[in-house]
Amino acid sequence: DRDLEVGPALLDWYDRHRRVLPWRSAPGAASDPYAVWLSEIMLQQTTVAAVKPYFAAFLAAWPTVRDLAAAPLDDILKAWAGLGYYSRARNLHACARAIVDQHGGRFPPDEVGLRSLPGIGPYTAAAIAAIAFGQRAVVVDGNVERVMARLCAVEEPLPAARPRLHAAMNRVTPQSRTGDFAQAVMDLGATICTPRSPACVLCPLIALCDARRLGLQADLPRKSKK
Ligand code: ADE
Repeated sequence: DRDLEVGPALLDWYDRHRRVLPWRSAPGAASDPYAVWLSEIMLQQTTVAAVKPYFAAFLAAWPTVRDLAAAPLDDILKAWAGLGYYSRARNLHACARAIVDQHGGRFPPDEVGLRSLPGIGPYTAAAIAAIAFGQRAVVVDGNVERVMARLCAVEEPLPAARPRLHAAMNRVTPQSRTGDFAQAVMDLGATICTPRSPACVLCPLIALCDARRLGLQADLPRKSKK
């Protein structure tokens, strides 16, 4: 059925069109959990373009989680200046220390372990588990919600639709390459399934998309008035 076709179609597209981003490993290579974690924290509430120079500067200054844990908090806050939401930088330091002090310097490889760490919520735990550890985790951010709302023509408005959109992502997430799959949905949302005027003619899922079939793609996701 349709749910089983989404994974292969999107992974094939990702292999041809993936965005080259500094925190992504070469195709087929393992990802460094530290780099994945750092990028995912920075990408919360901040654009890819804005994150790139900060990500490079952090990795140059602190190449491993042990280096970051040993750094004075003030140095980290200075390096973070301009990214905003400084609680993220404080949690970054606290998380690095917890990993060194309580986990032997290694990131826990599963969502439950990751979620026990400072600054790591459900989204970030799922992203790290899938991208860095190859676990079958269901990764849902704002881009993914929009893609799922359209793919499955979910007319219920956000935020009430969240559990449904998560369930939709769960149904289409394949058993393998879940990190690539999650990032493929993110790339699709960033480049083709954009908030306004989605470029459906370029979309690898055009034949599978309920919103497109119903002509609703530009109207979804709906949002509740505040
Ligand atoms: N936004 C959040 N995480 C991302 C990732 N891994 N790739 C692209 N965009 C993202």
